[in-house]
Amino acid sequence: MRPLALSELLLTELQRAESDTAAAPPLNRRLYLSLRGAILAGRITAGVQLPSTRDLARDLNLSRNTVMSAINQLTAEGYLTARQGSGTFVSDTLPELGPLSPAVRGRKLAQAASANSGSPRELSQRGNLLTAQSGSADFEVQPFAPGEIEFAEFPIQLWQKLQAKYWRSLDRDLLDYGQEGGYMPLRVAIAQYLSLSRSVRVTPEQVLITSGTQQSLDLAARLLTDHGDEAWVENPCYWGARRALQAAGLKLKPIAVDLEGMAPSAADWQQGRPRLIYVTPSHQYPLGHVMSLQRRRALLQFAAQQRCWIFEDDYDSEFRFGGRPFASLQGLDDHAQVLYSGTFSKVMYPGIRLGYLVAPTDLLPAFNTGLYDLYRPGQLMLQAALTDFITEGHLNTLIRRLRVAYQARRDELARRIQRCLGDRVQISGQESGLHLCLLFTPQCGKVDDEAIARAADAQGMTVRPLSRYYLGEPQQRGLILGYAYVPTERVPPWAQKLCQLIRSHLPD
Ligand SMILES: Cc1ncc(COP(=O)(O)O)c(C=O)c1O
Repeated sequence: MRPLALSELLLTELQRAESDTAAAPPLNRRLYLSLRGAILAGRITAGVQLPSTRDLARDLNLSRNTVMSAINQLTAEGYLTARQGSGTFVSDTLPELGPLSPAVRGRKLAQAASANSGSPRELSQRGNLLTAQSGSADFEVQPFAPGEIEFAEFPIQLWQKLQAKYWRSLDRDLLDYGQEGGYMPLRVAIAQYLSLSRSVRVTPEQVLITSGTQQSLDLAARLLTDHGDEAWVENPCYWGARRALQAAGLKLKPIAVDLEGMAPSAADWQQGRPRLIYVTPSHQYPLGHVMSLQRRRALLQFAAQQRCWIFEDDYDSEFRFGGRPFASLQGLDDHAQVLYSGTFSKVMYPGIRLGYLVAPTDLLPAFNTGLYDLYRPGQLMLQAALTDFITEGHLNTLIRRLRVAYQARRDELARRIQRCLGDRVQISGQESGLHLCLLFTPQCGKVDDEAIARAADAQGMTVRPLSRYYLGEPQQRGLILGYAYVPTERVPPWAQKLCQLIRSHLPD
């Protein structure tokens, strides 16, 4: 927050306090209360530097003594921290809330604010559906956090150069909204890559640039399903997909997963009437199994009979370390019923928010309209830079480098887990991707994987309990461990710490 903006905010708070109270307290008290209230409500956040007392006094039209009295009291109470030689800052640890991660702190602040403002306000049915489950973003980026990557391998300077080129030449069209599915040269590059590497049947026109899988799913659900329709999801399932589909009002039917991928029962095959099926056939999330050819054919045949859609989430096929790569499900589909989705979150970085959806040709007019009218896409400069990154061969180089790095991290982690925990655990899904799934074998009994995840968090590690990925009663207990975030040389101490912690939760 700019110092001037902070002064303006305080001025508004002071004026509000003046009009709220009949018998207004003295000015220094009013300033104290306004500043404290703004900090507690999260309007001024941790780490923000306050203007000097002289500037504040001038901006608020108060005496410097009045300002100093309020600031000194807030400093003494721990809301503000004075740093020798650099100024006064909003504290990271508030007296009421203690030290918290940004996500948890935000939630607590929101709770505190709603408690102060009387009864909680009603959300819409859609809002309630979305928030019915605990927030998925409440985790720290720490060793083993699934989906997190480390940037040591990323060619930052090259990426800066490619982007700077477009800002220098400044093509006005690239500053506009992205129409008709995104930047065409990027769609051409993606179509080429997908048809060669993933056997996707695709023309550039079929590739729609989205802000990632989450948006691709939301778009598909909005355009192809109605509120209350049934959607099949794998059980366990990627929470991001589950939440996007639930928020779209779909009734989720959990379908078990076996070593061959999604495994509908005989009753499911006979009586199931899904409108949409969400699958991760190349690397089931989170267990990591690859869907067999037989199961792929059965699913495609079922979808053709039922006239339902399949959403294929191919989120990390670039990182295959072993085993035979399977072509995409979409490439086997003769009835144009598969929507194929990919993302740059793993091969580039999650915050790039670029992904793609390959839609059947007859759906393109609807999908182009939906994409444009619902989300007003843009980021054409970024898309142009990414096109160069791909066509100049940098993406392939990066993927090759990352594959070597991630494989070494995975090997080191898996070896240490196996050595420490032996046959009490089984490691699944490690042939590709950025995570592995550690399953507790039956001899461990019913392990509380949530408790292990909480204990790990307290020790500076983020592991996800497998049970949380199930709809209904968990069929297996385990932990999802991301290995992309920890460089190989740092794996041993972290793995040892984690294994010791896990061992302390298992029966002797
Ligand atoms: C199964 C699965 N699909 C997709 C994604 C990526 O989603 P997005 O493209 O929205 O970042 C992830 C990320 O962790 C994932 O685990």
